[in-house]
Amino acid sequence: MEEGKVIDEALQGQATMVEGKKENSKKLFLESYGCQMNFSDSEVVASILAENGFDTTNNSEEADLVLINTCSIRENAEQRVRNRLKQYNKRKKQNPSLMIGVLGCMAERLKQKFLEEEKLVDIVAGPDAYRALPGLIEEVEGGQKAVNVLLSREETYADIAPVRLDKKGVTGFISIMRGCDNMCSFCVVPFTRGRERSRDPESIVKEATEIFEAGYREVTLLGQNVDSYRWNVSKKGEIIDPEKPTVNFAQLMEMVAQVNPDLRVRFSTSHPKDMTDDVLEVIAKYENICNYIHLPVQSGNSDVLKRMNRGYTREWYMDRIAAINRIIPDCSISTDIITGFCGETEEEHQDTLSLMEEVKFQFSYMFFYSERPKTLAERKFEDDIPLETKKRRLQEVIDLQHKLSNEFNKNEVGKVQRVLIEGFSKKSEDDYVGRNSGNVSVIFPKEDAKPGDYVDVEITDYTPGSLLGKIVKS
Ligand code: 5AD
Ligand code: SF4
Repeated sequence: MEEGKVIDEALQGQATMVEGKKENSKKLFLESYGCQMNFSDSEVVASILAENGFDTTNNSEEADLVLINTCSIRENAEQRVRNRLKQYNKRKKQNPSLMIGVLGCMAERLKQKFLEEEKLVDIVAGPDAYRALPGLIEEVEGGQKAVNVLLSREETYADIAPVRLDKKGVTGFISIMRGCDNMCSFCVVPFTRGRERSRDPESIVKEATEIFEAGYREVTLLGQNVDSYRWNVSKKGEIIDPEKPTVNFAQLMEMVAQVNPDLRVRFSTSHPKDMTDDVLEVIAKYENICNYIHLPVQSGNSDVLKRMNRGYTREWYMDRIAAINRIIPDCSISTDIITGFCGETEEEHQDTLSLMEEVKFQFSYMFFYSERPKTLAERKFEDDIPLETKKRRLQEVIDLQHKLSNEFNKNEVGKVQRVLIEGFSKKSEDDYVGRNSGNVSVIFPKEDAKPGDYVDVEITDYTPGSLLGKIVKS
């Protein structure tokens, strides 16, 4: 994602291709929108369907089955998916055997409505129902419409080896937990992804080992709130199986970091109310755990944070920032910000700007508030900030972030940074792009290095979104 810009997850819709088993005769076109968790889920879906007759294709024209993995987080993300579905429906008129399915958060939120009112799809499968897809497809082949939106308290897809859809083969994602129990008042995720549950740490370490052996050099551990990862401990804090060890997030990261010193470890997303010093100490202890934390603040004002039900104040957030700076000097910090939440006054908005200045975020994902059905905010508060004001405040936040990112990047000039090469830069095949430990993109002439290599790059220049440099030989 590019820094200093409003991020609309739906813009990142991406089609993917993998080879499957020889005997597979049907073609799946899989399109994903939204957060990294959705992209990771699509790899699970590709794996389940590769075992059930489908190879993926990157040409939707030749597909027998089109699946769209969707996002509900903001209204415009949903609108974009509806437009895509309408396009595929036009194609279905020419090719009636084409099956169209919707997966993920929108499937969960709209359930039967997709079939009854919108009549746009044949299959509706929620985030915990992907194992049921082969059966759902059979129902459709038999002339029915098929829905499974059951949420589960246990499903983590721990035993399914995801088919890696990112063809570059350098960086991969591993889901360590699913769902969310936080109930931030603006957020639809607890309704679409269900209760929080953690995945067996052994299966996570196994997947990290396999990915390293396959040549990958970076894993990102994914969860809605990674700091509340907990294995073998109940919600009430009781040990479930006394014969087995308990594992928290700090311990899990340590286990993954020990897979190999050449495997970089990242994680997302941290929650300010749950992020403990022992997590920070593990980051500081291991060279291969990147010095980068994405710590969504949402607002810089404690009253707004209370209405958002975030579970912390501005002071608490700043204390966590101080802990990061104390324990991991040189750690980059990014955040998420929402402008124009219910009742936000001009002073409260100014508090967000002043917090941004104080923390000096390296970059931010910035949004204006979009009311979502069923959420606490929808039920309790009036969405009373005019769209124009929401957008004006968002622009102020974006402009400030732009300035902060520029200052941050300017400070990096002259430093030598270790970069993991991911592939060619967007603009030229003579240049590579990779990221430094702080998650900033670095672009440099390729020389004789190759993707997957670590190189030391001296930073010579910058743009607001990336650093420019040259490889230095040691
Ligand atoms: N409106 C605007 N932004 C939202 N986010 C979540 N829900 C909403 C909403 N209703 C943002 C938050 C969250 C990020 C993933 O999306 O900033 O951290
Ligand atoms: Fe939504 Fe809050 Fe859970 Fe994040 S922590 S997914 S913002 S409810």
